[in-house]
Amino acid sequence: MKDKIRTFIAIKIEPEQKLVNQLLEFKKHFKDERINWVQEDNLHLTLRFLGETSREQVLALHTKFEQLSNQIRSFEFKILGTGTFGSKGNPHVLFVNIQFTEEMEKLAKEIEKVVVSVGFHKELKPFRPHLTLGRIKYLNNRLRFLQIMDEIPQVDYQNVRVSEFVLYQSILRPEGPVYKPLKTYLLQ
Ligand code: 2AM
Repeated sequence: MKDKIRTFIAIKIEPEQKLVNQLLEFKKHFKDERINWVQEDNLHLTLRFLGETSREQVLALHTKFEQLSNQIRSFEFKILGTGTFGSKGNPHVLFVNIQFTEEMEKLAKEIEKVVVSVGFHKELKPFRPHLTLGRIKYLNNRLRFLQIMDEIPQVDYQNVRVSEFVLYQSILRPEGPVYKPLKTYLLQ
């Protein structure tokens, strides 16, 4: 095993048909654009990206996440609406929105405390829960892209029951990242 591995903490999403159809529709609309689409079975909501993580940190995270998961109840959220990150001039992520509930905020905050306690810097960017569908590499027709995105109705795609979170290893491959679950933590 390498000294350090790239890790992140996420909730795996099993997409229902409505969301799968939205992904297919995006792929069809934007087939001439350079967008790396997330594979259906890789869909996840990132709670915290850690990046390079030592073996000791992984072990410490295991212990602390096990304790944490015993104190947090399972909860639900909605996936609704679409959006982009980046500026209008340079959108770089296409996502569907995740409803930011109190329970989600609590889970993210508690995870942040654990992460900082094992030596990571505090996350300075505000937590903006989302489900990335595509990573935009280059847009041949940016105006068309923005127009289509503007015209998409705010659909309620699905309800998700969160009964666990996962510590993943991210393995970067030329054909796309592989997300390997290292450990799953069951909520109460
Ligand atoms: P995303 O949630 O917007 O898709 C694994 O790489 C996951 O961690 C991805 O889902 C990714 O973004 C998220 N992530 C957050 N910050 C990251 C960073 N600096 N580098 C890579 N991935 C990051």
